[in-house]
Order: sequence, then C-alpha cells, then structure tokens
Amino acid sequence: MADDTSIFIGASRKSDDSYQRPEQLLLQYGNRHGLVTGATGTGKTVTLQILAEGFSNAGVPVFCADIKGDLSGIAMMGTAQDFLVKRAAQVKLDPYDFQEFPVIFWDLFGEQGHPIRATISEMGPLLLSRLMNLTDAQEGIMNIAFRIADEEGLLLLDLKDLQALLANIAERAEEISARYGNVTKPSVGAIQRTLLVLEQQGAANFFGEPALRISDIMRTTRDGRGAVSVLAADKLMMNPRLYATFLLWLMSELFEELPEVGDPDQPKLVFFFDEAHLLFDEAPKVLIDRVEQVVRLIRSKGVGVYFVTQNPLDIPEKVLAQLGNRVQHALRAYTPREQQAVRTAAETFRPNPDFDCATTITQLATGEALVSTLEAKGVPSMVQRTLIRPPSSRLGPITPAERQKLIAESPVTGQYDQVIDRESAFEMLQKKAKDAQDAEQQAQQAGTGGSRWTIPGFGNDDPAPPSGGRRAPAPRPSNRQTVAEAAIKSVVRSVGSSVGRAIVRGILGSLSRGR
Ligand SMILES: Nc1ncnc2c1ncn2[C@@H]1O[C@H](COP(=O)(O)OP(=O)(O)OP(=O)(O)O)[C@@H](O)[C@H]1O
Ligand SMILES: [Mg+2]
Repeated sequence: MADDTSIFIGASRKSDDSYQRPEQLLLQYGNRHGLVTGATGTGKTVTLQILAEGFSNAGVPVFCADIKGDLSGIAMMGTAQDFLVKRAAQVKLDPYDFQEFPVIFWDLFGEQGHPIRATISEMGPLLLSRLMNLTDAQEGIMNIAFRIADEEGLLLLDLKDLQALLANIAERAEEISARYGNVTKPSVGAIQRTLLVLEQQGAANFFGEPALRISDIMRTTRDGRGAVSVLAADKLMMNPRLYATFLLWLMSELFEELPEVGDPDQPKLVFFFDEAHLLFDEAPKVLIDRVEQVVRLIRSKGVGVYFVTQNPLDIPEKVLAQLGNRVQHALRAYTPREQQAVRTAAETFRPNPDFDCATTITQLATGEALVSTLEAKGVPSMVQRTLIRPPSSRLGPITPAERQKLIAESPVTGQYDQVIDRESAFEMLQKKAKDAQDAEQQAQQAGTGGSRWTIPGFGNDDPAPPSGGRRAPAPRPSNRQTVAEAAIKSVVRSVGSSVGRAIVRGILGSLSRGR
C-alpha cells in the first residue's frame, strides 16, 4: 500500500462512511513541513507515532519530543490488540505487521535518556535572553557580554563561564560602558540573579560539554532505517521556556550545519515539535519572525518540521502558512474561541464538496482526522475525512527497565554520559584575577600602590565557587589552545564562513549585532 515514495497515513471515507482510498504523505514533500492538531485524547500522539514510523522505515531520521512518555512505545514491537487489528482492517492495512523501531532516548536532565548539552556560545545571546526572559536593556548587556567574550578570547561553555564573565563585566562596568554603551552594575547583577534561578531549575545540566553532535541524531541503521530520537520532555515541560529554547536551538544548529539540498527525494531529518504552542506563548514578535524564517529556510536543508498542538490558533499565521501536510483531529466548539479555532482550521483546507469542514471537525472520532497533504507540484490535496492507521510499534509507554536497557544498548552510549570541564572563561578569568592580585601584591611590596582588579566570587581568596564547588581548580592543559579556539570561533562568527552561519547568527544568535 505504501510504496517507497510515500507514507501510508490511513484511509479516507466517502460521505456514506464507506472506504474510499488510501491517504498518504509523499516523502518528496516531507520537508514541506506539517501540522497535527486536535483536542486532548483525539489521536495526535498516535498520528505522530505512525508518521515517525513511516519516516524511519523510509530511512529518514526523526527527532521528536515525548511529552507524556507515551511515545516511547515506538521502541517496542506492537501487539495484536483487538481494536488495533479492527482498525487495520478498516483502513485495509494488509498485512498489519508489528515492528520495533531504532530509538535513541535523550533527556536534558540525563535521567530518561542520554544527556543533551549545548554550550553557552552555541546558544547565543538571543536565545539565552529569551530563556532568561530578560528585558531589552538586559538583552543589550548580554550581547555586549558575548562580544567581549569573542574579543577577549573567552570560551563560554557552561553557566559558570557566563557567571564569571558577567561578574567580570560588573567590575569593569565603567570602562565597558565607555566602549559599548550603558552597562551598569545593578543591571548586570539582575542578569546574574536570573542566571542563578536558571541554574536552580536544572539548566546547569544542559549547558556544557560534550555538546550534542548533530550527526548523532541523523543516524541510520544498517538495514536502512532512520533512527528515531525521542526526547524525554515530561520534566522539561515544567520549564516551558527551556523546552522551547532548546528546540529552537536545535533547529538553528541543524540549519547551520546541514548543507543545502534543494528539493530532495525525501527529507534528511524530520522534527516533531509537540506542544508547539510553548514556542510561541509570550514570545516577542522579533522571535516569532525569526522562527518563521528558520522554518522557511530549513526546508532547503531537507529538514521537515511538524508542529503538534491542540489548537491551530496556537501557531502564528505566517508559520501556519508554511505547513504543507496537515492532520486535523477533532476539536470541540463550545466557547467562542473554540468556534473560532474550528473556523480557522476549516479555512486552511482545500475544501471538499462532499462535506462541510467546520461541522466535520467537531464530529471526528478518536483516531480520525481531516487530512490534506501536498500532492503533485506541491499543491495541497483536497481535504479528506480519514481514519488513521494503527501503529506497528507498541501503543503507550515502555517500562523504566525497558528504557534503561535501550539506553545501555544505544549507539551513543558512553559518548555523552560524562561531563567534560575544560578550561574556559571561568578558569581564565580566575587566573587573570589571580595574576592581577599577584601583580598588585608585588606592586605594594615595591611600595608603588596599583589598581586592584578582582572578580567578586571568583577571586583566588574566595572560599568556594558558587556552583557548589563541583569544579575545583585542577591541573589544566595549556591556555593556548583554548584561547586560539575561542579566537577562531570569534572570527567565524564575525566574518560568517558561509551564508548559513551568517544568517543563523542573525536569526538566533546575535540579533542586535545585525549579522
Ligand atoms: N490511529 C489510531 N488507531 C487506533 N487507536 C487510536 C488511533 N489514534 C488514537 N487511538 C486511540 O486513542 C487514544 C488517544 O490517542 P492519543 O494519545 O494519540 O491522543 P492525543 O491527542 O495525543 O491526546 P493528548 O492531547 O491527551 O496527548 C490512544 O491511546 C488509542 O487508544
Ligand atoms: Mg498526546
């Protein structure tokens, strides 16, 4: 039924509710993005599951967030439960095979999967400011901080590095203000406090090395299936801003690292963004614009982004307009806002003379949806009332023991499990402070005075570093390599080695620097 150019989604029904024909998603248009919407319990996660299965079988790696843990079942073989077998017959899925998929579990907190990390410098000032909910003025300071780090060759890897840099900037506020514009001690202090809150919320795990290598989420198996990366997002959901920022960062990294491919036969990677409203809730317009831009541009890198959310109104119009493949599950229409959502959802489809979209949306059964995908020449197909196929993998969550076994056997086991803490801004500033102190002491001994220059909280005389003393000074490799590396990063950033990097640093990196 599904050939190797398409994914079988389910079967559409005629107006008398009899079988009409198979509905599919053409792999060729898999990078033209998509949208899965519907009220709670209407079948969104199962739709995500069967789409992920289809992409994986076609050899396309998939990255998806698992909000409730119920997507994890995709790692296990399904079983012939009556209602699933019945559904398979209804949609003429024959044979109905069961299958387990090659899953790599990830977790920003490192508990339910391999830890995922990014460095502060990769994250960039715009996303960090969004993550910390900074004011415009504070964001300005953050931009200055990144610029100083670039210019002075300070590597920003983890939160401790950023803290050290901010402390240093507070000390030098006057000098820095003269060079870059208004930087006051209290405003830097406010950012430092926000950073502490972020740390307490568990973000410290996320910032540092080894950072995620994009190639690890783009793996395929020997038998030609795409790996399914499942991000444990239940705990992450309690910090929606971290969740949204992380996924945005991942998209920007993909954009930055992947080559242009134009219109490939099938996507290079597909990205499912569950609870997508979190990306846009309270997001400033400038960020929404940038998301819109990334979504538009990432297509030519062969990456398809599929937003999953309850209500199509959750997605800004400009982004919505770019989502070619659509699966609309049932919506309720009691309140005016709900009625508006139904109308909006109905209007986005190419109408089908056989039924009224708006009415039908409110009548759809569980696991049934209005489906429209891109067909020849990328034109949206006429909307069809479609029963979604049952999954081949397990419906519902896996057990903790099953998860641990899969984590231990995964191809990235051992690569990310240990934090690496190499010399970066924190250590370098600490050393500078010590050198300055030594120099001052010498000067005092020589009786000439001299200006005192220390970093509060990070000086040599400080009893314990603020991050719990986790990183007591240890023998370090030579300064030189890291400084050189930082310098290279700085040059790459400012020159823009490729249009991609320049745009991305413009998109999600350093907005106010206008690159
Ligand atoms: N395509 C399908 N085939 C068979 N059963 C389905 C299908 N889709 C949904 N179901 C049934 O409906 C239940 C709920 O579906 P699902 O978990 O996908 O809803 P949801 O929209 O993700 O809900 P929530 O918003 O609460 O996350 C499933 O556990 C399953 O029993
Ligand atoms: Mg769900």
